[in-house]
Amino acid sequence: MAMAGQEATNRQIILKHYVKGMVKELDFELRVSKVLLSLHPGTKDVLVKNIYLSPDPYMRSRMQPMEDPYIDPFSPGEVITGYGVSKVLVSNHPEFKPNDYVVGFTGWEEYSVIKEARTLRKIPQIGLPLSYFLGVLGMPGLTAYAGFHKVALPKPGDQLMVSGAAGAVGQLVGQFGKLAGCYVVGAAGSKEKVKLLKERIGYDDAFNYREETDLKAALRRHLPKKIDIYWENVGGKMLEAVLENINKFGRIPACGMISQYNLEKPEGVSNLFRIVAKSVRMQGFLVFDYEDLYEEFTERVSGLLKDEKLVYFEDVSEGLEKAPRALIDLFEGKNIGKKIVKICDPD
Ligand SMILES: NC(=O)c1ccc[n+]([C@@H]2O[C@H](COP(=O)([O-])OP(=O)(O)OC[C@H]3O[C@@H](n4cnc5c(N)ncnc54)[C@H](OP(=O)(O)O)[C@@H]3O)[C@@H](O)[C@H]2O)c1
Repeated sequence: MAMAGQEATNRQIILKHYVKGMVKELDFELRVSKVLLSLHPGTKDVLVKNIYLSPDPYMRSRMQPMEDPYIDPFSPGEVITGYGVSKVLVSNHPEFKPNDYVVGFTGWEEYSVIKEARTLRKIPQIGLPLSYFLGVLGMPGLTAYAGFHKVALPKPGDQLMVSGAAGAVGQLVGQFGKLAGCYVVGAAGSKEKVKLLKERIGYDDAFNYREETDLKAALRRHLPKKIDIYWENVGGKMLEAVLENINKFGRIPACGMISQYNLEKPEGVSNLFRIVAKSVRMQGFLVFDYEDLYEEFTERVSGLLKDEKLVYFEDVSEGLEKAPRALIDLFEGKNIGKKIVKICDPD
């Protein structure tokens, strides 16, 4: 392994150009460059070795220029950035020292300099795997926790419907729903995912939306008492079908609409008047606005994991070169649980 002060080879994943339509492996390239494992004095930068990377659906929106973006787009020709778990090699920042494990925004490369340690947090040693800090104890976990408790406002007995149920966020929302006393139904895209939801994740019921020709009828069958909370992960046709099956004063925490992210022209929703007719509250939210919950969330969720009251599934791809494919897997429904890319052993 290269040591601090030495020069090392740095393999990097580059976005070749802005993307139109479905993202493809050809939109990325692997570049090999050199990096000096040291820092300029006088900065508060931190040099890290990246261990795990987190491909996440929001990254697709960064691959094209957008009007009024909620997050900066990537620049073609530059290294992809996203959440990662890393080990500190050299630190000019007083809060971090060599060998600390950290989570935050890093590059899709072997070594990264994190300017002024921006977004970095030290990973506490609590006996849980480091990769969990990209999922159940990281951004997707906080998304599920904050969105469910602060936006969905669940009550015992609520009928909760979750789309994208077997993914990073969906698997957790369903379990928070059960802990809150809801009846929980999930929609996912394969038989294997449906089985996992019902037999291991604790969903009361689940169905494979790809096998249904009439989503409205499928929802009626699986949720005869209709829907009080719809956790929106996918948008499009599922949202339309839910609006036909929602109860008065229903709530829709709008977490994401992944079915739209790769479309050149997003689909419309034809029955939005149902929101008026059923006094529905549909509220979008971004995890970045709930950072103040981070400590409460970490404590509660790590406690639930240790007490085995929460299960969590990951889907790990090995090797930096697999990162583009791992991201595309999210849009093809090939991941089961939180998709992670492992670059190297934590040692
Ligand atoms: N608001 C926020 O701050 C925030 C933060 C994190 C994530 N999110 C959003 O939450 C949602 C889930 O994210 P995640 O990280 O948990 O991803 P994920 O569920 O682990 O992976 C994405 C899943 O989406 C489903 N999917 C892909 N294309 C689809 C399509 N055309 N129609 C229906 N389903 C499709 C696939 O599952 P199937 O096999 O079931 O189709 C796929 O496995 C995304 O919309 C994401 O943008 C929002």
